[in-house]
Amino acid sequence: MSVLHVLVICTFALTCNASLNVHDRMYVLLKATSPCVLRLNGTRSFGCTSSRSGNVGVLHLAHNASDLDWVLNASPMDSYTVGITFSMFNLETLKRMNSSSKIQGVLLMQNISRADVPEFSPEDTCPNRYSGLAAPPTRQNTCDQPWNVNGSGIMLQNWNIPIFFTDDKDAISKIDDCFHKFNLPLDDSQTSRSLCALEMTAHMYGSVDSRTCIRRSNLAFSMNPIQFCQALGDENIYAPIVPLANYKRKSYIVVATRMDATSLFYGQTPGALAAATSLVSLLLTAKLLFQLTNNADLSKYENNVLFVAFTGEAYDYIGSSRIVYDLKRGQFPFKEQAISKDDIKLYIELSQLFNVSELNYHTSSPEVQSFVGNFTRNAKKHLTSVNVSKSTRSSVPPSSMQSFLAMNSKLPGLVFSSYDDHFHNKYYHSIYDDKFNIKYTFSNGSAPTNSLQEYVAGFATTLAHTLYEMLANQTTPPTDVISKEESDQLLNCYVDSLDCEYFKQSGVIYTSRETKPNFYVSVATYDVNPLTTLTKYILIYFMGKNTTIADEQQCIDRMQTTFTNHVWLPDKKLCIESTVNSTSAVSPAFVIDNYDMTSGQYSTWTESSWEAISVRMFMKPSRGYEWLVFVTGILILIASFAITFWINRNAKQLFNYPNLITASNI
Ligand SMILES: *[C@@H]1O[C@H](CO)[C@@H](O)[C@H](O)[C@H]1NC(C)=O
Ligand SMILES: *[C@@H]1O[C@H](CO)[C@@H](O)[C@H](O)[C@H]1NC(C)=O
Ligand SMILES: *[C@@H]1O[C@H](CO)[C@@H](O)[C@H](O)[C@H]1NC(C)=O
Ligand SMILES: *[C@@H]1O[C@H](CO)[C@@H](O)[C@H](O)[C@H]1NC(C)=O
Ligand SMILES: *[C@@H]1O[C@H](CO)[C@@H](O)[C@H](O)[C@H]1NC(C)=O
Ligand SMILES: *[C@@H]1O[C@H](CO)[C@@H](O)[C@H](O)[C@H]1NC(C)=O
Repeated sequence: MSVLHVLVICTFALTCNASLNVHDRMYVLLKATSPCVLRLNGTRSFGCTSSRSGNVGVLHLAHNASDLDWVLNASPMDSYTVGITFSMFNLETLKRMNSSSKIQGVLLMQNISRADVPEFSPEDTCPNRYSGLAAPPTRQNTCDQPWNVNGSGIMLQNWNIPIFFTDDKDAISKIDDCFHKFNLPLDDSQTSRSLCALEMTAHMYGSVDSRTCIRRSNLAFSMNPIQFCQALGDENIYAPIVPLANYKRKSYIVVATRMDATSLFYGQTPGALAAATSLVSLLLTAKLLFQLTNNADLSKYENNVLFVAFTGEAYDYIGSSRIVYDLKRGQFPFKEQAISKDDIKLYIELSQLFNVSELNYHTSSPEVQSFVGNFTRNAKKHLTSVNVSKSTRSSVPPSSMQSFLAMNSKLPGLVFSSYDDHFHNKYYHSIYDDKFNIKYTFSNGSAPTNSLQEYVAGFATTLAHTLYEMLANQTTPPTDVISKEESDQLLNCYVDSLDCEYFKQSGVIYTSRETKPNFYVSVATYDVNPLTTLTKYILIYFMGKNTTIADEQQCIDRMQTTFTNHVWLPDKKLCIESTVNSTSAVSPAFVIDNYDMTSGQYSTWTESSWEAISVRMFMKPSRGYEWLVFVTGILILIASFAITFWINRNAKQLFNYPNLITASNI
């Protein structure tokens, strides 16, 4: 290569670089956008992806069907990205856009108040329809009719385009302005103008299914392994009333709920009715029951109450199926204190509780009658405007209890819920299952009557009193109750803001700036979810005993010698003793050697990895201008070749080279 060639290439590279920089500055990054990401199970993939370098298209705003028809059928440019509002965001419209080669991406722009969104659930009409009791070996039909009547199934499709969400006013007004200024009128004149365009980047590394993607991860680059996808999972939390080490009788009442939810858009999982209200009810029940039994002689108790919060339930019951798996192997909660399946005398689950007048229980076991009788008696005092009744539907709703029934069909168990034969939650597993959905407003100690706060306090009191009667073997109910101030404070933590009074009091050190509760289970390999950690600490706060130990090392040592959990709270300089502990919530599919990922027995959900996620807006030059740049480029290229050729030809004269010594000269 001649000196000149190198020179020419260098100048080219320099000018290219310079123009790239100018280009970069013309991009506007739209903040506060959440992507739909890709997840996989053992046999297929679900969700969205963009091309590796991002999808680019001219911005189009579609407020109604005719707007959409125009872009699909009459628009002059080759590729578009479409901004749509809520009323257009449904399965049918998305499918039309997905199947058009013109549409490069979709941005859902929330332009109305969250409170005004009509029903929206991207989940299946029968959530977890292939797992729990429906999984082998039981294979029961749990979906004779839909539970989640508003389910559109958008989350269970494979989309070929990126789909983003934003409710950021600033981003939405930037998009609106840019569209109105540059992209209107909508006609063939678009080809001759500079147009506002969006670039959406959400490239997902995972593909095909969990099995393929994990094999690729393990195989491909063993020197420097790349995780194309990772198993979903986290930790389940449990806490017995009687410390396990002191309890040999083995007759357990399990009181359980889930502490996870999901949604179509990453990072936006408020899970208020899917998880928060029931979790708060469980935590307050634990608080009161601990208070009632704190000074009692626990060794007299025939029964023990075990509180459990499962996670990963949205993805084929990850948490509960793992506990059941561990239980069958004699490993739950751990080998030394193993509980067996016959030790569970009663299983009670709290699911989608909120303040309506009907509290239903779902059960197929006649053995729960005496418990229900006692509960109803107590409810008359503390849940005065609520009617407790058996569900009219005989099949078991989607719930963690299915995992236990799959192990033991005779399990005396029931699920308490605020729905009868189908969910009342119109926003199940969506970004709108938030405080507006449950009509919650933090009232800092002055919650009104008939409010959610009063209901949750009443439920927790009723349940705790009923459990206390069973433990203490007496029928005179205790006087302590959960106040609606307490439930208001705790609901505030789980529905509104992690930066709340109770979490501060619990002594946990939480430094993240993110204060919105996020109930998504996420992948197992990272740290424990903030919400799981906070839940563990709030339980320790509710069910812990202060010790006199004033030093961290002694606190740790004490744990090893007494076999009871001790945590050190550095802020309070306090060592707290409690029974709260956690177990792995990673699906057995990832624990069992050579598990057949297609068998459907256990959850095989993984989440794809990604590198960059962004939505950027920029001005796309007109077609004429693009042609001009292209043609100029070609002309320059031809000219530079011609010049190089000419210079090479005449180099001798031009540069006065000395006569070269070549082999033939010698
Ligand atoms: C994966 O999901 C699909 C659709 O929901 C289902 O048909 C299939 O059985 C699932 N596969 C496994 C292994 O769970
Ligand atoms: C659809 O919305 C556009 C504005 O985006 C409006 O001009 C048009 O009249 C609407 N069409 C119908 C049928 O409502
Ligand atoms: C979206 O398009 C891809 C490829 O064209 C297709 O495989 C996929 O099934 C489509 N998704 C839906 C929900 O129609
Ligand atoms: C709640 O009330 C207390 C005192 O009544 C006050 O100190 C605190 O700032 C209030 N919190 C909020 C979030 O309003
Ligand atoms: C439930 O509580 C909310 C306030 O938290 C209230 O606005 C609503 O009316 C209550 N619903 C019923 C059925 O009482
Ligand atoms: C907590 O669980 C771990 C195993 O996960 C176990 O080794 C430990 O003993 C448990 N602690 C108590 C106090 O139960």
